Amino acid sequence: MAYDWYKDAVFYEVSVRAFADSNGDGIGDLPGLTSKLDYLQALGIDAIWMLPIFPSPLRDDGYDVADYCDIHPDYGTLEDFGRLVEEAHRRGLRIVVELVPNHTSDQHPWFQASRDPNHPEHARYRDWYVWSDTPDRYKDARIIFIDYEPSNWTYDPLRGQYYWHRFFHHQPDLNYDNPAVQREMMKILQFWIDQGADALRIDAPPYLYEREGTNCENLPETHAYLKRLRALVDAYAPGTMLLSEANQWPQEVRAYFGDGDEMHMNFHFPLMPRIFMALAQADRTSIEWIMARTPELPPICQWGTFLRNHDELTLEMVTPEERTFMWAYYAPEPRMRLNLGIRRRLAPLLENDQDRIRCANSILLTFIGSPFIYYGDEIGMGDNIWLEDRNGVRTPMQWTAAPNAGFTAPDVPAERLYLPLIDDAVFGYRTVNVAAQEAEPDSLLNWMRRALQVRRQHPVFGRGHLILLAPEPKSVLAYVREGPQETVLVVNNLAAEEQRVTLDLGPYVGARLEDLFTGQTEPETASEAWTLTLPRYGYRWLRLVGLGPRAAESFHEEVVARCRA
Ligand code: GLC
Ligand code: CA
Repeated sequence: MAYDWYKDAVFYEVSVRAFADSNGDGIGDLPGLTSKLDYLQALGIDAIWMLPIFPSPLRDDGYDVADYCDIHPDYGTLEDFGRLVEEAHRRGLRIVVELVPNHTSDQHPWFQASRDPNHPEHARYRDWYVWSDTPDRYKDARIIFIDYEPSNWTYDPLRGQYYWHRFFHHQPDLNYDNPAVQREMMKILQFWIDQGADALRIDAPPYLYEREGTNCENLPETHAYLKRLRALVDAYAPGTMLLSEANQWPQEVRAYFGDGDEMHMNFHFPLMPRIFMALAQADRTSIEWIMARTPELPPICQWGTFLRNHDELTLEMVTPEERTFMWAYYAPEPRMRLNLGIRRRLAPLLENDQDRIRCANSILLTFIGSPFIYYGDEIGMGDNIWLEDRNGVRTPMQWTAAPNAGFTAPDVPAERLYLPLIDDAVFGYRTVNVAAQEAEPDSLLNWMRRALQVRRQHPVFGRGHLILLAPEPKSVLAYVREGPQETVLVVNNLAAEEQRVTLDLGPYVGARLEDLFTGQTEPETASEAWTLTLPRYGYRWLRLVGLGPRAAESFHEEVVARCRA
């Protein structure tokens, strides 16, 4: 097994609750997910990241953990988890488990013991959370769930003190100044490795420590602890990957990679809204802007990229002007907005425009890093903004046009389903479902399968250098991915109109251009003014063939120098 398998991987983010219900209780479960592994394998993904599957009161969809070392009874048992791992591994698929180190549910026995002076275990758990006599400490820390929480402190009458929470008030933050907490989270990490996890997503890492006079994010103490988690993984189960969710600017995120001795991967949060901005404005400038601020990573590290996930489309990593634009364009109805973001899915955001959806995915699959696909986006599922919080993007997977969409047995009463199915005219399950799209050669699902297959054949997409080209017009986003084995040119038309574009392919003069989708070669070889026409939102992935043997590194420098000139 390659140590850096994650560099070649495409990830699929799934909510177990939403995917497939095996026992007719209206709630998706682990056996249900296991029964769909053939589907995921045929889709062409490599790793499955599951939202939290632990016992929980589910007030934050499982990110409020009540027991780190068990499975929520709705989802199954540890044996079911073992079977999922086994069946996934048999198909060459890897499993990513959530680790939520920052906070627990207020229903967690640790918190119950910590808050109650008369609890038999109080002495042991007293200092497992961050308690204070006043709500005036750590004033410089922002509030994250601004639509729900007025403060990061909540008063607990039983203990007669305030406790600290960066998210919901029912999610008290653990106290990482306490060595017992540090040790416990390391044991939990080992537990999931023992259960077969190939990787862990570290939820909300910036907030582990608090220090007066700081914004309580990205503190040196936090990085020191994350490095200890990494050292543990390297010693205990080398090859286990740590994926961090630091929603921060690139400079801050860079620190989470350390010198290659902290997190293997981190999501590139600021890139995501800029892909949407570039499509909305038919102008690549915002992508160029963020890439100019994106640092190089240590060799074993990798960016995770995505278009959508289980949360609101976050606009924390944009300027206030950009946020205003994004809200006006992508969230015209107030109900579409949530916290500092937008609670909509990919297909509705892109007005169900099939060309635009393919263009967005073309960028996702060929730009930097390893892509994450959010369940249902491969068939263009819709959302329901009227559901609470972020539930509107977490509705049941649409498998068929049958009653209950094949998510659960057809005779299960609709009100038993954990959330209602999407049932509108455009995105409803009778129209948008896996079975229908499997039968239709030109469907989004079949396009995704084909695109993932092409990506898999070209490791340069996960590993190559990215060299942005600067052609006119700005509505074209063009780049070269360059690796030791091959060089690929990608051209995306961000505009709703056909475009003619001329590219300076100077460093590659004479190379033939071979379309990765069709295998066909362009009539003209690469030149300093190579011209092509792209349909609306059109994209081309073109391999440069016949470049002759050149030292990849020096060649790369030559190209970068030319593009900067
Ligand atoms: C992360 C999760 C989000 C959750 C939050 C608090 O940001 O992605 O869904 O609500 O952490 O745990
Ligand atoms: Ca079930």
